[in-house]
Amino acid sequence: MSEDFDFYSDEFQSNPGETFARMIDKCPFHRSDQWGWYSVFRHSDIQQIVDDNETYSAKWGPGPAYSPPEASILLVSADPPEHTDQKRAVARAFNLKTMQALEPALREFVGELLNDLQGKGRCDLITDIGIPVPLWIICKLLGVDFETHVARFRDWVEILAGNVFAQNDPSVATLAATKAGELQDFFAPMVDEKMAGVAAGEDPGNDILSELAKVDIDGYRLPRHELMSFAQFLVIAGSGTTTNTIGNFFRLMLDFPDQYQLLREKPELIESAVEEVLRYDAPVHGLFRTNNVPVHLGDLDVPADAKICLMWGAANRDPDVFDNPQVFDISRNPEQLKQIMSFGGGIHRCMGAPLARMEVRVVAEAFIRRFPDFREAGARVPYPFATLNGLDHLHLEW
Ligand code: HEM
Repeated sequence: MSEDFDFYSDEFQSNPGETFARMIDKCPFHRSDQWGWYSVFRHSDIQQIVDDNETYSAKWGPGPAYSPPEASILLVSADPPEHTDQKRAVARAFNLKTMQALEPALREFVGELLNDLQGKGRCDLITDIGIPVPLWIICKLLGVDFETHVARFRDWVEILAGNVFAQNDPSVATLAATKAGELQDFFAPMVDEKMAGVAAGEDPGNDILSELAKVDIDGYRLPRHELMSFAQFLVIAGSGTTTNTIGNFFRLMLDFPDQYQLLREKPELIESAVEEVLRYDAPVHGLFRTNNVPVHLGDLDVPADAKICLMWGAANRDPDVFDNPQVFDISRNPEQLKQIMSFGGGIHRCMGAPLARMEVRVVAEAFIRRFPDFREAGARVPYPFATLNGLDHLHLEW
């Protein structure tokens, strides 16, 4: 029995959790007549798909549109064996150690943001903290000066992240093509300089682009277009997602004051609180695979080369995996929290997950320490594009 499900509807976008619960129960596989793509809702079905890279390929890109091979993104649109080589190469430059090393400087940066806000008595959490923090991290990773470039990055990120699901709005796709060109022009001279340095036997630096330019695994070197695509991908994938998680954290603390009270009494729950925020409100509703051969999804016969959306946010609400999945509970069983799919699963599981968690934790700890009695001070504004689940504005006062 097919249930109504419209990804772009206000009903879904404003309260995805309820729709996910209904679809898991009544219609775990869905085909959209309007858009032609399929959706998968249950945790175990999604897990099976992400574990089968032979049948379900990433090569047509993570969005509902078929991205041509020349637009392929390092890692995200690669299948094994290329993905395996790429991941090994990237992991040399981008690993837990490089991420953890950023924490002290991040604390300082967040402290400065809070100093600026202290006397104002209010802020827009998204604009004043949620957006700058992940962009500052990305700039650090890429060796780009934050102060000089933050405004342009902000502009690129919103449109390019929004564009992933902009099938329903061709004007966004047109705008995104311009922004993608600008982002490409921004990185081209940097990548060329790093590659030229390496070719000349020099050390171009220790930012992630330099490290990636230096990678040489048994003669495997990352080609120029892959360095370019990775830099662009980090800007797009690492910022809007984390911005929305920071916003979702504070929104949920406002919506569930008993849980905020619990966190204040037991600050040691901060890590599971961040994880529960990610579970309850997956920042990315879902992303796509494309089947190489015809498959059956439940009662649906799916022809080869269909776009199949894996609904990470729904997997997080699956009652077969999570007790009382519709309840927001920061003291949830840690073993259950390990099953969250907000960062995807299988070989493409997010490489930036530890960094994103750290960013949200550092912001939450510092903000709560400084302004423990924050209150909501104005109407919430939802994130304007269907790609991400979160807010565009969250006004707080203290
Ligand atoms: C809360 C924040 C974040 C969320 C919710 C998130 C979500 C995801 C998801 C769902 C995927 C899987 C894509 C797929 O299966 O098609 C992914 C992949 C990836 N993410 Fe994140 N991400 C976040 C933050 C970051 C950050 C901060 C970075 C880096 C600075 C990052 C880098 C990556 C990379 C490199 C991949 C590709 C992994 C691969 O394909 O092997 N992400 N992310």
